[in-house]
Amino acid sequence: MTAGEANKQRVRRATGIAVALFTLACVAALCLALLGGFGETRATGATASNASGRGFTGVASCAGSTCHGRMVADGKIVRQDELARWQEPSTPGGAHSRAFNILSGQRSQQIAATLGIGNAASAGECLGCHATPATGERGARFLTNDGVGCEACHGGAAGWISSHYAVGATHAGNVARGMVPLEKPTARAAVCLDCHFGSARPGQFVTHRIMAAGHPRISFELDLFSSMQAHHDEDADYAARKGRTDSVRMWAVGQAMALERALSFYQTPRATEGVFPEFTFFDCHSCHRRITDQESRVKTWEANPGRPIPAGMPPFNDENMIMLSAAAKVAAPALAARFDADSRAFHGALAKDRASAIAAASRLAQTSGALAGAFASGASSADLGFAIVAQIDSSVIAPRFTDYAGSAQAVMAIDTLLNAMVKSGRVTVGAAAGIRADINRAYAAVKDANSYRPADFRSALGSATRAIGALR
Ligand code: HEC
Ligand code: HEC
Ligand code: HEC
Ligand code: HEC
Repeated sequence: MTAGEANKQRVRRATGIAVALFTLACVAALCLALLGGFGETRATGATASNASGRGFTGVASCAGSTCHGRMVADGKIVRQDELARWQEPSTPGGAHSRAFNILSGQRSQQIAATLGIGNAASAGECLGCHATPATGERGARFLTNDGVGCEACHGGAAGWISSHYAVGATHAGNVARGMVPLEKPTARAAVCLDCHFGSARPGQFVTHRIMAAGHPRISFELDLFSSMQAHHDEDADYAARKGRTDSVRMWAVGQAMALERALSFYQTPRATEGVFPEFTFFDCHSCHRRITDQESRVKTWEANPGRPIPAGMPPFNDENMIMLSAAAKVAAPALAARFDADSRAFHGALAKDRASAIAAASRLAQTSGALAGAFASGASSADLGFAIVAQIDSSVIAPRFTDYAGSAQAVMAIDTLLNAMVKSGRVTVGAAAGIRADINRAYAAVKDANSYRPADFRSALGSATRAIGALR
């Protein structure tokens, strides 16, 4: 499978899930017995930003039938069938429990053989994301082959496992003992991005060389992916303990932190490969195009008003920059002009030299960080989602959809924002279902990276955003 096909599959899956969200029902999945381990594989040497520095106890320690391993979701406070949902093979929610096993599959073995790193299932280059990146001490029940286990996201549990279900335990108390406050958009984004973008630590980055060896490209949108893997119900009890999730802000914080992460990484020496920059940061198709040599020129690229770089240079992947420009104008107007100026300066600096690019990346990363803060703390308004959707298709933003990655990110954005309007009661389920066909046409325009046509995409996006706007 090519990277394009993999992404197509992912986008397709995302579409299916978003549709399913409207009709999400609780399915009592069979609680599979925990697979016995083949013993420890070697440590990854990776650390995660979620790591509390405390011990990791392993999935088995969460899986008791009176704990999170129930067959049905009949828990009083939490569902308690989280294990079964984490293991559910038919849904993206089960992906994390499969993450380790996938390393023994044919595709992984081919990747590993091409890279010359031996067995993928014991290679640090893979385990940093396909297993729990446990930094602290590992308890007797910790198994690498559990894949991306509970503690990969919720944090090493040694400090809180015995107290978090006790009468009188509070979320704040749990967090003080090392539980990760995943209800906070910034905390959640930091955790997911370690693997769904990468971190500067060893074993947590999919380089272009790994992709060229066959790894799917990685695309991520915090709110959509959160819905896809959710194993909890946001009921009144949850809201009382942790507050309601504001999906629009979750989306916006996810964009800002993804860009900040990419730019921070870009400044490190690991963002170079030999004499070349690390290609992962750049638009894939700017290099992977067909070449024609004939009398009448065939031009497959488009000039982009958001990027002052000369023709013939690979552009930095600006998927998050475009979304942030749209979001900032609406949700953080005080920072919007600075963000656009810093983005343009960064693109421009890439055409000069690495030192200028690093300085410009640092400024833009700071502005992205400021945006994440503004989005996370800003007040909610019912019209925010509508206003951002309108921005995405405005005459300033729409001409920036000249490349595949930015376009795919835009479709996920309007899907997420529409779902948020449904969740908040601003749009009815029926009305949203009524314009599903328009959203699906936009998804279809980014289904296959290799046959992506910018003009066709912008037209499909326009229909979808107009359909959403009509619900306002
Ligand atoms: C930075 C984290 C990261 C690293 C490092 C990483 N992966 Fe992945 N891998 C992912 C993510 C995230 C996905 C899912 C992509 C998606 O669907 O969006 C994935 C998907 C895959 C898939 C496709 C899985 C499927 O269900 O089709 C294979 C195969 C794979 N990785 C193998 C490897 C191998 C082999 C290595 C080591 C050479 C490796 N990965 C290193 C994060 C990583
Ligand atoms: C990929 C990351 C990830 C993994 C892996 C994961 N979770 Fe979660 N979990 C989340 C997120 C995100 C939430 C929702 C935010 C929150 O914690 O309130 C959540 C919510 C929960 C909740 C509900 C919390 C509440 O206050 O209502 C429970 C219980 C839970 N997870 C248990 C588990 C167990 C048990 C496992 C392992 C079998 C697991 N999780 C694996 C990310 C993850
Ligand atoms: C320790 C690494 C790690 C962390 C942390 C992590 N993931 Fe993942 N995630 C993966 C890997 C690896 C895969 C691909 C597994 C496979 O397909 O075999 C994946 C797959 C997924 C998928 C399925 C994607 C698809 O195309 O079907 C979703 C959804 C997802 N992750 C959401 C999240 C969210 C939301 C968070 C943060 C709360 C998160 N993940 C945190 C490693 C991680
Ligand atoms: C700056 C140029 C450049 C960029 C940007 C770039 N690549 Fe590449 N890519 C290359 C080169 C050079 C090769 C090696 C070609 C060869 O070996 O003949 C390659 C090889 C590949 C291959 C292997 C192709 C094959 O036929 O085996 C894949 C897959 C790939 N790249 C995916 C990607 C993805 C995904 C991205 C974006 C995240 C990307 N590339 C971005 C230049 C680039």
